Amino acid sequence: MFSIIAAIGKNNELGKNGGLVFNIKEDMKFFKDTTTGHKVVMGYRTWKSLPKKLPDRENFVVSYEEVKEADHTITNLDNFIDQNKDTDEEIFIIGGGMVYTAFLDHAKNLYLTEIDATVPDADTFFPEFDKSNYNKTIIKKGSENGLTYTFAKYIKK
Ligand SMILES: NC(=O)c1ccc[n+]([C@@H]2O[C@H](COP(=O)([O-])OP(=O)(O)OC[C@H]3O[C@@H](n4cnc5c(N)ncnc54)[C@H](OP(=O)(O)O)[C@@H]3O)[C@@H](O)[C@H]2O)c1
Repeated sequence: MFSIIAAIGKNNELGKNGGLVFNIKEDMKFFKDTTTGHKVVMGYRTWKSLPKKLPDRENFVVSYEEVKEADHTITNLDNFIDQNKDTDEEIFIIGGGMVYTAFLDHAKNLYLTEIDATVPDADTFFPEFDKSNYNKTIIKKGSENGLTYTFAKYIKK
């Protein structure tokens, strides 16, 4: 089973210039607590944005080229999806925009930190999705450095 996890602005903003657009400590902690111990799948650009491999997680990088420092490179995304979508194991899809788009139709859960702010110069966005196809649970609300946000979980009906 695939679970997407992302932090998004009011217009689905995800990133700019290869980096994140929001810096919320509580969100980083939520991401770490939620994904630790699991397989995580990311696109090559997201991989390049990290200082190092994410610890205590099996790091899968989607790329047409072998990524030596990763635990695994996914060169054939369709095969990976076919082989893993029906497993009970929760595999986390951690970005970025291209990889979220590729997995959206196959993901059972969307863990979205919905941040109540816009970023006019963002260049990467979370894909649009039909919320009526999901049951939404609010996990928690919070605020930090003047930003308010909601940790939401969408479960496909
Ligand atoms: N807000 C958040 O929660 C969040 C989370 C993660 C990332 N981000 C942000 O998102 C941005 C990066 O997202 P992005 O959309 O530019 O890139 P991305 O999805 O991280 O990576 C794109 C790369 O993945 C590989 N790829 C994609 N589809 C593929 C396929 N079907 N087969 C093989 N390889 C494939 C390609 O790598 P190759 O070119 O090597 O083949 C492609 O260049 C950054 O700004 C990052 O900070 C935000």
